[in-house]
Amino acid sequence: MSQFKVTKAVIPVAGLGTRFLPATKAMPKEMLPLIDKPVIQYVVEEAVSAGLQDVLMVTGRNKNTLENHFDRVAELEANLERKGDHDRLAKVMASTDLANIHYVRQGDPRGLGHAVLKAKAHIAEHSFALLLGDDVMDARDPLLTKMLELHESTGENVIALMEVDPSQIHLYGCAVTQGEVVDGVVRVTSLVEKPKTEEAPSNLAIIGRYVLRPEIFDILEETAPGRGGEIQLTDALMTAAQNPDRAGGVLGVVFKGRRYDTGDKLDFIKATLRIAVDREDIGQDLRQWLHEFNNEI
Ligand code: UTP
Repeated sequence: MSQFKVTKAVIPVAGLGTRFLPATKAMPKEMLPLIDKPVIQYVVEEAVSAGLQDVLMVTGRNKNTLENHFDRVAELEANLERKGDHDRLAKVMASTDLANIHYVRQGDPRGLGHAVLKAKAHIAEHSFALLLGDDVMDARDPLLTKMLELHESTGENVIALMEVDPSQIHLYGCAVTQGEVVDGVVRVTSLVEKPKTEEAPSNLAIIGRYVLRPEIFDILEETAPGRGGEIQLTDALMTAAQNPDRAGGVLGVVFKGRRYDTGDKLDFIKATLRIAVDREDIGQDLRQWLHEFNNEI
């Protein structure tokens, strides 16, 4: 087995979700449903379909609803069983049987880098995938498998990038790259967290999928709080990009598929509609209604 074969996924879900208040006052934003499944389940399903059965969630306040969603609910299962409602029973069981899920607490939400550090003991000496719990990649557009293959064959850290409109780059980490994008892959030489449009080195934004070497933990431990007083993963990745001998360099996979930042209200609505129009149960009716609605507005 290659030294860089990945078997574990880390999913941070400890952010405060302030953009979605008051819905996120008493529950994590990752529990908001896209149609009838919480956002987090889409993300765990993505990890599992890329072959990662071992999932560590870094949780914050209000973690109970999250843990309960992936746990057994004996009373509900017995009720559906008694009624012979096997379809709904299968839906209830699906999240329970999905993966081996472990939990660790972040305590204070001191930034994404700080959340990732909490995974150190569980990950130990291995490379791992990091999937942000509020970032949903459309299952029809595979990304993680390509990133895992690239990591396994090169031993480098791999991050996902997406071209965004220059006016939007201030919302993201931004990549400084060298050379051309070949087969959708580019070398990253440096990174800047949330730059102003006029100062941004490119329009390539970092999105929520990473395959990282364990050396990133040592770098994070040395990384001082950055933007917003938070420990930034982007800052640690910049150190990795600039010191390839220490932690492997950084490659970027440029993603052209459908991606939804479900922590953002407008993107959340778009995600709901994009997924719903192709659903067998409601898709056709929704499409028809959307045409009518379009004439109304
Ligand atoms: P975001 O910056 O989108 O999360 O973090 P947030 O801070 O909750 O968002 P707003 O701006 O207040 O609405 C990206 C991912 O990192 C996790 C979040 O849960 C999300 O999945 N995160 C962020 C943590 O786990 N811990 C942190 O300290 C910060």
